[in-house]
Amino acid sequence: MARKSFIAGNWKMHKTIAESKALAQAIKEAQNKNNADIMVAPVFTSLNAVAEVLKGSNVIVSAQDCFYEEKGAFTSQIAPNQVKDAGATCVILGHSERRSLFGDTNEILNKKVKAVLAQGLRVVYCVGETLQERESEKTISVIQQQIEGGLKGFTTQDLKDLVIAYEPVWAIGTGKTATPEQAQEVHKAIRNILEQKFDKDFAQQVRILYGGSVKTDNVDAIMAKEDVDGVLVGGQSLVAEQFIRIINYNK
Ligand code: PGA
Repeated sequence: MARKSFIAGNWKMHKTIAESKALAQAIKEAQNKNNADIMVAPVFTSLNAVAEVLKGSNVIVSAQDCFYEEKGAFTSQIAPNQVKDAGATCVILGHSERRSLFGDTNEILNKKVKAVLAQGLRVVYCVGETLQERESEKTISVIQQQIEGGLKGFTTQDLKDLVIAYEPVWAIGTGKTATPEQAQEVHKAIRNILEQKFDKDFAQQVRILYGGSVKTDNVDAIMAKEDVDGVLVGGQSLVAEQFIRIINYNK
């Protein structure tokens, strides 16, 4: 089945508003030879400015997280309708930094997915194992729990625009990339999990991104794998030239 490729940049806690706008502008003007879906996720304070720059383009603007309540006394939190109001059409949920540093559990993420979908926003749902889990051969069971827990209670219709990102924690920001074979193996296993939980059509249609030290010099080999539909890029999404090279990966 042909799935449109999806190239996403997670800017994490980087860049001022002016820097974010400049990077967004460069991406907007860039070539996109594979006709990929492109997404950028700036910090909350830059969301609106980036959305303004990208208006009229096909580049998707995403938040990096949000809270699950609609409004109220939740100091520092941002609601799904507020990121939508700022111009985002997507939210990344379950990034490993959210899970490990800020206590996002599968249960909390399930509430977040629900709240985000209720606003008609797209979700990029991240899963992935730690090094210890990989070494004790728990990779697939951990990912199964992340999928079962985070995506509990939804129909395939609810999740029709879902994108999953497989990001082995040991590969994020470490310079250690999973080999294309390791990525393919887990992506395939994720499709099997989705087929069991939902159905075959859904499992074939969902786009699964690889993330973790994706770079200009490894993106081509990773993208060549059958079940890899895109990449979620941290460090190298911060430099226009590098991210544009990643967008224009060679098949
Ligand atoms: P990295 O980050 O590309 O810097 O490893 C990836 C991610 O955390 O999404």
